[in-house]
Formats: sequence, C-alpha cells, structure tokens
Amino acid sequence: MRIDIISLFPEMFAGPLGHSIIKRALDAGFIEIGVTNPRDFAFDKHRIVDDYPFGGGSGMVMKPDPLFLAVESLAAAGRRRVVLLCPGGGRFDQAKAEELAAYDHLVLICGHYEGVDERVKEHLADEAISIGDYVLTGGELPAMVIADTVARLIPGVLGASDAAAQDSFASGLLEYPHYTRPREFRGWEVPEVLVSGDHAKIARWRRKESLRRTLERRPDLLDEVELEMSDAVLLREILAERDKS
Ligand SMILES: C[S@@+](CC[C@H](N)C(=O)[O-])C[C@H]1O[C@@H](n2cnc3c(N)ncnc32)[C@H](O)[C@@H]1O
Repeated sequence: MRIDIISLFPEMFAGPLGHSIIKRALDAGFIEIGVTNPRDFAFDKHRIVDDYPFGGGSGMVMKPDPLFLAVESLAAAGRRRVVLLCPGGGRFDQAKAEELAAYDHLVLICGHYEGVDERVKEHLADEAISIGDYVLTGGELPAMVIADTVARLIPGVLGASDAAAQDSFASGLLEYPHYTRPREFRGWEVPEVLVSGDHAKIARWRRKESLRRTLERRPDLLDEVELEMSDAVLLREILAERDKS
C-alpha cells in the first residue's frame, strides 16, 4: 500500500514514521509513505496557503487550490481513497482501518488553523474522518494515527501473520491480558494456566478473559459481536464469579 499525506508540516512525520515496526515495513517495501507540502503548490509571490474566512470570523482557512493541486500531483497507485482529517468527520475505528487497508493508495489531507475550505470535503475528498470527539491543532497527529493503524493491517508489516487478527477490536472483543518473564514479579504470579503447556486450556482462558474484559470495560461491544456457542458457557462462568466476589 502507498500512503500519501498532504501536510504543511512534513517534518512532523519523520519521528513517528522513522522507527520500529513502521520503519522496518518501509525499508522492506511492504508500505510506502510520502508527504507532500501544499505550500509547494501555492504559486503566488508569498506562497500563501490560507486566507480569511468569507463572512468574517476568527482564524484562517486553508485555501482549496494548493490542496487540489497537491493531491492531483500524486502519481496513480491503484485503487485510491482520499480522506480529509476533520473533527466533524465519521469516527475512526478498527473497522474503518480495515476498510481503508483494502485500498492500494490512501491520501490523507491534514487541515490546520480554523480548518479547510469546504470544497475540499465536497469535491476532493472521498470522505472525512475524525479520530475522536476532541479538537487538535492540526490533522498531522490524526494522519499518523490512521497511517499507523492501517499500516499494521498490511500483510507482512507485523511479521506474525495472525498478530493483528488477535488484537483488541479485530474480533469485536477487547484482547486478553499478556504476560512475559519473570514468572513471578514482586510477588505477583503469572496465571498458572499460561505456563501449563496445555494449548486448549490456554485458548479457553484467553477467550474467557477477552469476554470478561469486554463485559467489564466495553459492554457496548458485546451488542455488535457474533458470539460463539461456547461463549455462553464462559459468560455464565464470569457472571457467577462476579456474583461470588
Ligand atoms: C483546529 S482544527 C479545526 C477545527 C474546526 N474549526 C472545527 O471546529 O471543526 C484544525 C485541523 O485539525 C485537524 N483535526 C483536529 N481535530 C481533529 C480530529 N479529532 N480528527 C481529525 N482531524 C482533526 C483537522 O484537519 C482540522 O482541519
């Protein structure tokens, strides 16, 4: 997959995209990421990319022309989705990440200042996405969140092929707890079943803890997920344990 980010601040991406899993995925060619500065497509003397809002009001609005030209300058890279980062957009979640990961080419447009001329949303972007109900100073952090979340769904990026499938939300449930060495730390023991070597028991324990966590922290998710027959037994056990404690 190729991800192109349209941003007035390309330097912001060097850190988050230049380390760890994403860097290895870039080096190995599983993903390509480019950052294009719309200022390079502002052809007036002062290379102006923002202007006062029509109708008055505070703040500056990003002009449409540099953003259109920046997106139009990108080389075609297969099936493409153009996304405007916007607090008023549809909410980003794991299902949306999976939907975006199916495209060959993702273009993320970062707004700044008071926002972006509405014609960008209407005639350039295929959709607008928000990463949550809060307002950041710019679309750069949202673009990094989306690029990172989508990239780890691309085959090869995580190495272990089923790692992303096990994650929280991928199955509709929160993920079970993880433990590593030492087996005992400051008196806190790793659950016995995890060192039993019994793979069936471990799988049952993980499914049960996944259900328990979801029930305790995000019961809303249980309304959406298709539970297995065996989950009913596990849920009954969890509720009985809860009544006892
Ligand atoms: C200060 S915000 C503009 C907020 C705008 N005046 C409003 O009330 O919706 C500047 C830019 O940051 C980005 N941004 C801020 N919060 C965001 C969020 N929660 N999700 C996605 N993008 C966001 C958008 O690209 C936006 O154009």
